[in-house]
Amino acid sequence: MPGRNVILVGFMGAGKSVCGRMLARRLGRCFVEIDDMIVASEGCSIPEIFRRHGETRFRQLEAEAVEALALKSDDVVATGGGLPCRDGMMEALRVLGLVIWLRGDLQDLLARARRQGARPMLDGRSEDEIVALFRGREPYYRQAHLTVDTSGRTVDQVVAELVAVVRAEHARV
Ligand code: S3P
Repeated sequence: MPGRNVILVGFMGAGKSVCGRMLARRLGRCFVEIDDMIVASEGCSIPEIFRRHGETRFRQLEAEAVEALALKSDDVVATGGGLPCRDGMMEALRVLGLVIWLRGDLQDLLARARRQGARPMLDGRSEDEIVALFRGREPYYRQAHLTVDTSGRTVDQVVAELVAVVRAEHARV
């Protein structure tokens, strides 16, 4: 039986952090952000890790963070947008808890991610390359247990649906 964490996945700008934090508060649970775990352990920012050590090292740190998650239960976890998109990662997440894909329209997601900045995976990529990145990731996100649509909805509406689906799911098992 999967662990009882709730794990949010989705592309950059999907609202995993903001919705995850609110969801955790509403459910009375702890909130964990994988990017923050990495920043704390490495002592430098995500863009800095990419600059100094490259994407491969960052992905390795993500995998280590997922291993560390095995110690947690009942938390709400926000993952980085690329974390589930390598072989074996979605399976690992699905064992750790209920995985929910926050799906959104690419242009909305990009506008939000660019507004916030500090997204090394967007730097220097053309629009076509970003579309290809997004399309290449969708098959991984699709392996989530559940999908919640964020397009055209406020954070409050998304969080309300998340609360409802998590409660329904946990009432079922
Ligand atoms: C990444 C997404 C980022 C962060 C890193 C790489 C990606 O997290 O993990 O910059 O590969 O999509 P967000 O999804 O929170 O932006």
